[in-house]
Amino acid sequence: MADVLTFFDDAQIRDPYPRYEQWRTRHPVWRDRDSGRWVISRHEDVLDILKDHQRFSSAAMGAALPLPTLTDDPPRHTQMRSIVNKAFTTAMLKSIEPDIATIANDLVRALPDDGDVDVVERLTTPLPVTVISRMMGIPESRKADFKRWSDALTGTLAGSTPAARQAELMEMAQFFRELIPERKKHPSSDLFSAVANAEVDGVGLSEWEIIGFNILLLIAGNETTTNLLGNLLNVLADRPDLWQRLRREPELIDAAIEETLRFDSPVQFLMREAKEDVDLHGARIAARESVIVVMGSANRDASVFDAPDEYLLDRTRGRHLSFGYGIHFCIGAPLARIEARLAMRALLSRSQHVARGNGRTQRVGSHLLRGFEALSLQFNE
Ligand code: HEM
Repeated sequence: MADVLTFFDDAQIRDPYPRYEQWRTRHPVWRDRDSGRWVISRHEDVLDILKDHQRFSSAAMGAALPLPTLTDDPPRHTQMRSIVNKAFTTAMLKSIEPDIATIANDLVRALPDDGDVDVVERLTTPLPVTVISRMMGIPESRKADFKRWSDALTGTLAGSTPAARQAELMEMAQFFRELIPERKKHPSSDLFSAVANAEVDGVGLSEWEIIGFNILLLIAGNETTTNLLGNLLNVLADRPDLWQRLRREPELIDAAIEETLRFDSPVQFLMREAKEDVDLHGARIAARESVIVVMGSANRDASVFDAPDEYLLDRTRGRHLSFGYGIHFCIGAPLARIEARLAMRALLSRSQHVARGNGRTQRVGSHLLRGFEALSLQFNE
């Protein structure tokens, strides 16, 4: 087969892994003609670039989002990140864990006993949205609005136009704006209060920063977690023995979550911008040029992982890069892991078997985010 040096086409969405292998072995650095971006696919190179924030800026990540976000470089990034870190403490996560278990159990209990279930609609989408709205202290009465806004923001609202999305975004910003004075006056233990009352060097955040921050927490955590769970259930649907094994040995659920992150990364790549000329494998990446670092490929690199195209729970070697690396490492990683673990526990204890259903199964139509828009399964007692 001829080497495929194309990035943004439909075949890539169906199955990117064979071409990633070609890139890793024969074209470790190549330039995508349409976008002008450099594509980096080996584990070592992806890791080096993610580590090297001196030479590779993250500002490119934020270019698409007109928000005061964490995509800045230091020193602003360090200050902003410390705010969210204060909110995402281990203690905070421990305290919310029983709530997450209840949310996951309720969603799983409500699944139909037999027949086809679209798990994306019934479980993997509502779970992270419900959890984050609870963490932010969004009133129950506004939950439906909140779900609509977050769908619009992440672009999954089928058929919505840019103008409609913009209108949802403004409505949401307005809702957050109105919430700020209340949470400043009566702060509680929720995430929104933590952000609204945070200070950097004795100075509070501006109104727009508070709004932008909360929107970021929404965007970053919902569809990614949905995709992690969808990818995991997709793997298990083809491996009935593994389902049985996880039922017998639930302590392996965490290994299955990590292996899913490696095997089918919910975020396939990140973008960086060179701050100076960089030479890599004979190519010159000039200052201000963009690079795409493909974690989805790095995670299948045979020089790091044994039998990289197999799904194995007992790996002893290699570290996946699905949550990024270094100063921008995903803040929500522990939360995503808890949600996935509790959802899997609930599903495994409820159903003896999982199998493919006859309903619609469809990959998300994105090169960046890999997951399912619909995934039809059957769970049997
Ligand atoms: C399986 C689920 C998730 C995946 C695969 C994922 C992936 C990532 C990746 C790859 C990055 C690095 C971005 C970069 O280096 O430019 C990141 C950053 C981030 N993630 Fe996640 N994420 C997930 C869940 C979450 C959740 C649940 C939240 C919060 C509710 C969250 C919040 C963030 C934030 C705020 C950042 C920015 C950190 C920074 O730039 O310092 N993520 N995530």
